[in-house]
Amino acid sequence: MSYSRVAGTGRYLPERIMTNADLEKIVDTSDEWIRTRTGVERRHICAPDQTVSQMCIEAAKIAMDAAGVTADDIDMVITGTTTPDLIFPNVSTIIQHELGIPACTAFSLEAACTGFIYALSTADKFIKAGESKCALVMGAECITKLVDWKDRNTCVLFGDGAGAVVLKPSDEQGIVSCHLGADGQYKDLLYYPVGASNNLAAAGTPAANIMMTGNEVFKVAVQTLGRIASETLEKAGVSKEELDWLVPHQANIRIIQAMAKRLNLPMEKVIVTVQDHGNTSAASVPMALDVGVRDGRLKRGQLILMEAFGGGFTWGSVLMRL
Ligand code: UT7
Repeated sequence: MSYSRVAGTGRYLPERIMTNADLEKIVDTSDEWIRTRTGVERRHICAPDQTVSQMCIEAAKIAMDAAGVTADDIDMVITGTTTPDLIFPNVSTIIQHELGIPACTAFSLEAACTGFIYALSTADKFIKAGESKCALVMGAECITKLVDWKDRNTCVLFGDGAGAVVLKPSDEQGIVSCHLGADGQYKDLLYYPVGASNNLAAAGTPAANIMMTGNEVFKVAVQTLGRIASETLEKAGVSKEELDWLVPHQANIRIIQAMAKRLNLPMEKVIVTVQDHGNTSAASVPMALDVGVRDGRLKRGQLILMEAFGGGFTWGSVLMRL
């Protein structure tokens, strides 16, 4: 078995939907500004008592069902998230226990919006090394719990949700290559100023808002994603023409359009969910993947490029055959 391959996908979105019209009532913004600058039309917002583990469990059940696996089959759980239930234990252990998965390797990692790509790449290595036979990999976020609903610069952008995949060894080509990167010099352009060992007392106060210099982030995101898309294809010896689909991080429709242009892909070959989900950080790529799989656009054997970019900055791409 020389590849790891996605055996099933799933997603969960919280019930409550907040539209741009709803936001117009709480901050000085307009549906027109939000749609034209970001592409977002609505987003799902988790309930005050809802956690990342609860959302992951729902997404995981659907992915496990699609993959035809039970809790007993899973031997590894990895979750990419910046908004885990607790500082510890790590959220994957909560998910493992609640799903009835026998004791196994379970950890979470935080790479902001790139969390799922980092998690998937990690699981791919474990499977290729023969150390996992069935990995549950998730990207999930209750990011709106970090949002200051009085700050129009950020509150219109984000949404909550969870996406999951089951990854298994395969003789047929699955994940072709993964490329991860990060550069901490950009920390101040996008961060949340509270952590377990720094400024914890500010949690829940106005000082604890998502800090983002949006237009600077935008520029570096477009440059970096364009570069890694080219590098990914080059290293895999794949031409742009061979690519069937782009499944990008859903931060801004203008970034997604720039990526499609760079890859010579018509927008019909790009899975776009930003209008319905907003920026769900680590959840955005696995949820977009699931949307494409379930509506029948993404088919077995097709070549798909997934990519993400987020705070850190972190970035990454996964080229795979579904
Ligand atoms: O997922 C992780 C990575 N994150 C990203 O990739 C996000 C990247 N950045 C972006 O998507 C865009 O920069 C934003 C959507 C955040 C902002 O769009 P922009 O075109 O870069 O706008 P801007 O920040 O340059 O602001 C333009 C104007 C400003 O007004 P002035 O100074 O020109 O008078 C803002 O105050 O738009 C104003 N503005 C708003 N107006 C109405 C900012 N937010 C809003 C708003 N409603 N919600």
